Amino acid sequence: MTDGKDAPRATENRSTTPLSDTFRHYISSGWAERPASTTSERPVAARAAERRARLSALYPGVRLVLPAGPAKQRSNDTDYPYRAHSAFAHLTGWGADTVPGSVLVLEPASDGHTATLYFREGAGRDSDEFYANPEIGEFWTGPRPSLTEVAHDLGLATAGLDSVDAVFTGLEADGSVETLIVREADRALTDRLDGARLLAASAEATVDVDTVRDDELARDLSEMRLVKDAFEIAEMRRAVAATQHGFDDVIADLPQIVAHARGERLVEGTFNRRARADGNTVGYDTIAASGPHACILHWTRNDGPVVPGDLILIDAGVELESYYTADITRTLPVSGTFTEVQRRVYEAVREAADAAFAIVKPGIRFREVHAAAMQVIAAKTAEWGLLPVSAEESLAPDAGYHRRYMVHGTSHHLGLDVHDCGQARREFYADGLVEAGMVFTIEPGLYFQPDDLTVPEEYRGIGVRIEDNILVTGDGAENLSAGIPRTADEVEEWMRGR
Ligand code: GLY
Ligand code: MN
Ligand code: MN
Repeated sequence: MTDGKDAPRATENRSTTPLSDTFRHYISSGWAERPASTTSERPVAARAAERRARLSALYPGVRLVLPAGPAKQRSNDTDYPYRAHSAFAHLTGWGADTVPGSVLVLEPASDGHTATLYFREGAGRDSDEFYANPEIGEFWTGPRPSLTEVAHDLGLATAGLDSVDAVFTGLEADGSVETLIVREADRALTDRLDGARLLAASAEATVDVDTVRDDELARDLSEMRLVKDAFEIAEMRRAVAATQHGFDDVIADLPQIVAHARGERLVEGTFNRRARADGNTVGYDTIAASGPHACILHWTRNDGPVVPGDLILIDAGVELESYYTADITRTLPVSGTFTEVQRRVYEAVREAADAAFAIVKPGIRFREVHAAAMQVIAAKTAEWGLLPVSAEESLAPDAGYHRRYMVHGTSHHLGLDVHDCGQARREFYADGLVEAGMVFTIEPGLYFQPDDLTVPEEYRGIGVRIEDNILVTGDGAENLSAGIPRTADEVEEWMRGR
């Protein structure tokens, strides 16, 4: 029911799984007893319970369905690496070891909600799943945890995935309890709920499902994550530390990187090796953008050479097993030393980043961070004679000449998603007040396209971004990634020390 597959998986023509009764009988016996589980509640469990209580208070009497989502098909019978939906992760505390297709349901009760985590538990040796099902069988993808183990780990009531059917069957029979779902997490479940809604509404001849209330749920789930709790802040520190190691690894590997025709791929490989070794994976596709590729904001093809004399912009973040991710950019001179013009651009970006960081404290508006960086970007580009108007004129709301060289924003929230809290309302995000416990990026840049006739030739093909991860404290801010060299001098020193 939750498989959500959109293309067939053709494997029958090469299946060699033995199916004789003799074999079935033989393989079902001769297995040792499994020791009883000794897991204990994970530290995240209490935090996840608090988060569920906050959500419960927002939706009295409403049934809430929060799917982890199915595995996503890549091609034929191969899937993308599994990633549970972030709202599910936030409210269960389950991360990289989530069983695909799991569903958290908050059922309204007299004193709030009762939470139940439904998932497909491991099949016993009395079924043939364990050896004959390549998608989920233990011999193929490893053992799945028992309901009891997960209940202990996460401090949550658990039930087999089959019994989530009862929730949906009940819906079809009785629409009296409003039921909302995270629509994007599991298409098959969402379709099923929409079907039940249409049946309930047929008397009024409704043809479209009204998703307004689901969208409100998505919004609230996003807004709940704007301020991080102590567990989340500790995870962000760990993600940044692992990311720092990944950057160190890249610098250590630079000789091989420069020697390879597709050095950018080696940068990606080196960083991603660290992400897999110390975390779950990368929080987004690594950008390894050497020379003019740095002017392509989301350059992830990473198939170019890394050439001494050029800069290389590396935007990468380790995502931990808990799914919290860093998002850090450093721009390095491949030879170890900036040229005069590279340094000029680099230090301008660094000044913009410092100016933005300097104003961060509780009570400012989030968008002021961007404005502070733009003051510097406009001033520098004007000083270099790149703008047709003064910096002040360029900064006017209806102008923005300097934005030609930095078309992206300066900051976004960061956490379980690299662009965290994406469905939060503008009044709580861009126009919102900064609060202690928020974590966001500061990432100004300057990108001079190789064919930009508005800039002198010496600037063309230079792209610089510096991206840090900022924690708002009670009276100011902490740059969580300050330990990764930032100034031009520090960067050169870092590279000399490799
Ligand atoms: N790495 C994507 C971003 O910086 O927003
Ligand atoms: Mn970012
Ligand atoms: Mn980034």
